[in-house]
Parts: sequence; structure tokens; C-alpha cells
Amino acid sequence: MSRSISRHLIALSAAVCLAAGLAATPATAEPRPKTLAELAKKHHKYFGSATDNPEFTDAAYLKLLGSEFGQTTPGNAMKWYATEPKPGVFDFTAGDEVLAFAKDHHQKVRGHTLVWHSQLPAWLTDRTWTADELRPVLKNHIQTVARHYKGKVIHWDVVNEAFNEDGTYRESIFYKTLGPGYIADALRWAHEADPRAKLYLNDYNVDGINAKSDAYYHLIKQLKADGVPVEGFGLQGHLALQYGFPAGVQENIQRFADLGVEVAITELDIRMELPATPEKLATQATWYADYVKACLAVKKCVGVTIWDYTDKYSWIPGVFPDEGAALPYDENLQPKPAYHAIRKVLGG
Ligand code: XIL
Repeated sequence: MSRSISRHLIALSAAVCLAAGLAATPATAEPRPKTLAELAKKHHKYFGSATDNPEFTDAAYLKLLGSEFGQTTPGNAMKWYATEPKPGVFDFTAGDEVLAFAKDHHQKVRGHTLVWHSQLPAWLTDRTWTADELRPVLKNHIQTVARHYKGKVIHWDVVNEAFNEDGTYRESIFYKTLGPGYIADALRWAHEADPRAKLYLNDYNVDGINAKSDAYYHLIKQLKADGVPVEGFGLQGHLALQYGFPAGVQENIQRFADLGVEVAITELDIRMELPATPEKLATQATWYADYVKACLAVKKCVGVTIWDYTDKYSWIPGVFPDEGAALPYDENLQPKPAYHAIRKVLGG
């Protein structure tokens, strides 16, 4: 067979295959349903999920994480115990792994967290510090981590969980050693290291209007008056069915927006006492919908992150005995009523 005939045959068979392929697709084929990320984007918001490094061996899990969500937050990888396990010795391996996945899947990343009383390395908590000793250690931690991730994270939860329920300052090692000014210092140091990342304060039980969210309201107002670079308030949103849906979520988001900061829902999950029943799952679905709706109603609410997306990897059962089923996908990665309710409020 001459070269040109064989080339013709190849072209012909390719055309036949193409035609057959086209014919095999029915004209009425349903378009691919939009993902939560795509639906949220129509509202100019992101919809994300936290993740954690041990989960990176689970291909089915990663497939959904990378396709359904437009944003991710490392659940543990950027915490102090992980990033500075020995004094002055930094390890960014775990955080970099999350960032690489996010980059491959065009996801935004929230940095979490620079200053927190929990999950600190023993070298920090096992001794006492004077203010003069602790201040440079805190500054170096914040700036080394923020510099490493400069340009790669959209937000930093600079200070996490600074207040008690009654609105008094939490007696963390930072508060006890440095006084309340550690918050403004932390924000200024983080801003020096990464001027483009939006800097957040983040906490739980601040969904509605209460003593704790009031404390943040007054603090952020003061910080802004003092010219301190605070640009966002994070509502963790760890809810539990047995405590009722918080009152005034939208009003609360709105009052922070009116102060001139953006708001993010950073760690949403809605747990229940086990066993889960169809009734509880239905209530959970309306709570997810109502929370997302409150964010959609406020322009400066920039997005919603759920604290991982499947009950397979939720932190709840490990911390709250006999509670769980907190996320929109079950342990087999199947969508629950909450997933469908979220899609619906997003217009899907
Ligand atoms: C949780 C993680 O999900 C767990 O894996 C870890 O064991 C404990 O911390 N508020 C926060 C998050 O700001 O960092 C916490 O994450 C959940 C509560």
C-alpha cells in the first residue's frame, strides 16, 4: 500500500470513529450538573472544603475534593506544631502538599492559622516565657510562615479563638505573657510578611449576636480606628443540632460588613447526637441551607468553607463523643440531604 493511500485510510477511519462517537451521544444528553464551586461563583463567592494530609492517599476522596470545591483550607498542616516543630526549625511539607493540590485544581486557599492557643509544640508550652522572650519568637513564627506562603493564600486566620464565651480574653500563653496587644502586633507582623493576604480573626460561637461576637465587634472597630491591618472576620460555624440554630446570623454578618471588614464562613459543620435519623438529617439540611443563605444575603460575605466534606474524615467523632454525621456527604462519599439543600440555595 502506498504511503498516501494508507494516510487516506487512517484519516477515513478517524472520521468514522468520530462520527460514531458523536452519534453515540444522544441529542438530549443532560449537561453535567454544576458543582458547588460553580454555583457559588455565580454569586461571586467561593464554596470550599477543608482537607488534611492523611486523606491524600484516598483517590475517590480527592476526586470530589478537586472537582466540587473552589477553595480549600488545610485542617492542620499550617498550625504551629506542624510548621515549627522545633524552635526556629520550620517544616512546610504538609502545607505545601495541600497548596500543590489546590493549585492543580484551581482552588483558592485560606491559611489557617498563625496564632492559636491549641496545637502548639511542646517546646513552646512546656516552659514559662517573659514578654521579651516570647515576642520575638511569635514575630519570627508569624513572619516566617506568612513569608513562605506569600502570594499563595488569599486569607490568613492570623489569630484564632482569642475570646471566651462571655467576651473576655482567652487566657492563652500569648495573652498571659504579652497582654491583649498581641493581637494588633500579630496582624501588623503578618501584614509586613504578606501584604496582599487578607488578615482575619476567626472563632466559634460567633455566628449570631452574643457576648463573644460583641467582643469581636468592638475589637475590630478599635483595631480599624488604630490603623491595624484587620480585613476579615471568620465565623467558624461549628453548630450542633441539640443547641438550636443561632439567632441573627445574617444580621451579625451584616454588622461586621458595615464595620468595613469582609466575612467568611470558615469551618462550617453541623453535628448531631448519633445515631443520625432521617429527621435529624432533614433538620441538618435546612440549617446548612439557612447558614449559606445568610452569607449569600451579604455582599461582603466572601465564601463558605465546610470543615471537610465527608463524614469519613470529620473531626467531630474524635472530639465530641457519640456525636457526628456533621458533613454534607456520608462516610461512603454519597451526598446527604444537606448537600442537596446547599445546591438548592445556591441556585442549582
Ligand atoms: C481541628 C482539626 O480538624 C482536627 O484534625 C484536629 O485534631 C483539631 O483541630 N477550630 C479550628 C480548627 O480552628 O483548627 C479545628 O480543627 C477545629 C476547631
